[in-house]
Amino acid sequence: MRDDGMISPVGSTTEPVPSLEFGRDVVEGLAQDPKRIASRYLYDALGSRIFEAICALPWYKITRDESALLERYGPVISSGFEATPTVIELGTGSGEKLSLLLGPDGPQTSMSVHLVDISSAALMRSKQTLSRHPGVEIVTHEATYEDGLVAALDRIDRDRPAMIIFLGSNIGNMAPAESDRFLRKSCSGCRPGDRFLLGTDLIKPEAEMRLAYDDPLGVTAAFAKNLLIRLNREFDGDFEVDTFDYHVVWNEQASRIESYLVSRVEQVACLRSAGCCIRLAKDESIWIESSHKYSVETVVAMGRNAGFSLREQWIDPESRFALTLFEA
Ligand code: TRP
Repeated sequence: MRDDGMISPVGSTTEPVPSLEFGRDVVEGLAQDPKRIASRYLYDALGSRIFEAICALPWYKITRDESALLERYGPVISSGFEATPTVIELGTGSGEKLSLLLGPDGPQTSMSVHLVDISSAALMRSKQTLSRHPGVEIVTHEATYEDGLVAALDRIDRDRPAMIIFLGSNIGNMAPAESDRFLRKSCSGCRPGDRFLLGTDLIKPEAEMRLAYDDPLGVTAAFAKNLLIRLNREFDGDFEVDTFDYHVVWNEQASRIESYLVSRVEQVACLRSAGCCIRLAKDESIWIESSHKYSVETVVAMGRNAGFSLREQWIDPESRFALTLFEA
């Protein structure tokens, strides 16, 4: 075994082109200490469906809290532009939140909407959801947030303002350095008057936050373990899914929930077509997600640091969730 925890490769690396980056990311991530897999790979077709089920769980309130704000303030949020904006949604998921933002009878004029998501299944779902809004013309980008944003900004009509929306507290899945860089890059891609709507989950009592990420029905655990099923399928792997437990930690200092898959036994697992085998000690974990939680002040500071100015912020009466509208 090499001292980075990897043992010598087996099999070939002749994956079809779309999987090359995935394979490289997985091999690199599993060579790190602690081992990690980027959370974007949770969202294959089944993962996207399970995530929708998570959003319906009584303990995971992010989607409902945010949706209530969008329903209530949607018309205000999307008003005050000189011309109908082009909307770019990063991580569109089911499309339901954007639909709420547009309102039951919106938009009043024809509007171009660019949907970005890593999951083709999510893009299809979202497109279907948004077909409820007759005036909406939809362009999809199957890409990461960053690549999708660049591709969308490249294609939109620059005579109209742009409104970038990044909801679901998905920014919380980035490390602070990464979210800073991402917001800075987003701001520099904007023209004056463009807007950026950011949804962020706020800090709550620890027990409540833990339950949101480790529910008593085990749906979130299934969501996490589906990542191993995906790896087995796409890389001819042999992870034994039921030797792993799902585990979450509240890291107070970093203000984030950390999600892990923990190996109950010492084992070697191979992903043959990615050419990698890893050794896991008993109780060793694979880090699959960080979900940062914010104070309202940190959210505003993040946007300002990136070069945006604050336009308006909406928070529910119990300070559970914040929608913050920045302007470039
Ligand atoms: N973006 C979601 C969040 O951080 C994703 C998510 C919900 C998630 N529950 C999870 C990711 C559990 C990994 C594990 O809230």
